[in-house]
Amino acid sequence: MSDPDRVFTILHGSDLHFGRPHAPAAAKDFLTLAHSVSPDLIALSGDFTQRAKNREYAAAAAYLKRLPQVPLVVTPGNHDVPLYRLWERASAPFRNYRRWIADELDSAHDLGGAVVVALNTTTPDRTIVNGNVADAQLERAAAAFARAGNGGLRALVVHHALVGAPGGDRIAALPRARHIVDRLAGMGVELVLFGHLHRAFISVGVPNGPGEADSPVLLVCSGTTASDRGRGREKGKNSCNLVRVTNDRIAVTRYLRSASADGFQPVARETFPRHDFAHPSPPGTASGA
Ligand SMILES: [Fe+2]
Repeated sequence: MSDPDRVFTILHGSDLHFGRPHAPAAAKDFLTLAHSVSPDLIALSGDFTQRAKNREYAAAAAYLKRLPQVPLVVTPGNHDVPLYRLWERASAPFRNYRRWIADELDSAHDLGGAVVVALNTTTPDRTIVNGNVADAQLERAAAAFARAGNGGLRALVVHHALVGAPGGDRIAALPRARHIVDRLAGMGVELVLFGHLHRAFISVGVPNGPGEADSPVLLVCSGTTASDRGRGREKGKNSCNLVRVTNDRIAVTRYLRSASADGFQPVARETFPRHDFAHPSPPGTASGA
């Protein structure tokens, strides 16, 4: 991002849930938005399917081919591993995901001015809904982020939430969320994109209490972009985010789609300064680890 006029744009959607809850009209509207905003990168933070079935994945894979041909960063969600097919869940939980969506479960993408890492937070051998980030994954992320140049964006994509939705939620944040965010801050990560909660919001770090935050990492959640499973204020709605990164700012625009509106419409825009992030600590030097 050394060019002062450089803008790096990420379109972030999540929770497409191909299968029974999938909303084809919303998916079509997301395609329209994706082609109109010309992103540099598209990030989709998991739950491509409802039950990890081949026919659901086939539909999801066909859909992904219709997105703009820009780098696509994906990560599996808890719905992308079998829930009821217990033998498959135990022996090859990611077989269909790897066949249809992406072979790599953790991945790193060097995009020239931005390094984006995706980590698989699902734990099919341990819990059904909640996830986890292992220390070994954080070490791999640190190694990938170390390759980013000064001023380059470092961003992470995961499925599970690093902070709960405002107003409370029965779905918990990832275990050790504060530790993970502290480690990410030490790697110079500025932005984490996730889904899972089916409603969009932004948190500046993990709050200690109301109005407080202890880390400058932006935690950005997308609602469900193309299913009927919106929760809270997004019940019956769909959302996604457009993130514009310049040398000195990160601007996040939330797009919302409701039955009464014409496609995805921008409903909120928040801008955050990047000056705190310009000179990250050497990778791996975690604070509060
Ligand atoms: Fe989901």
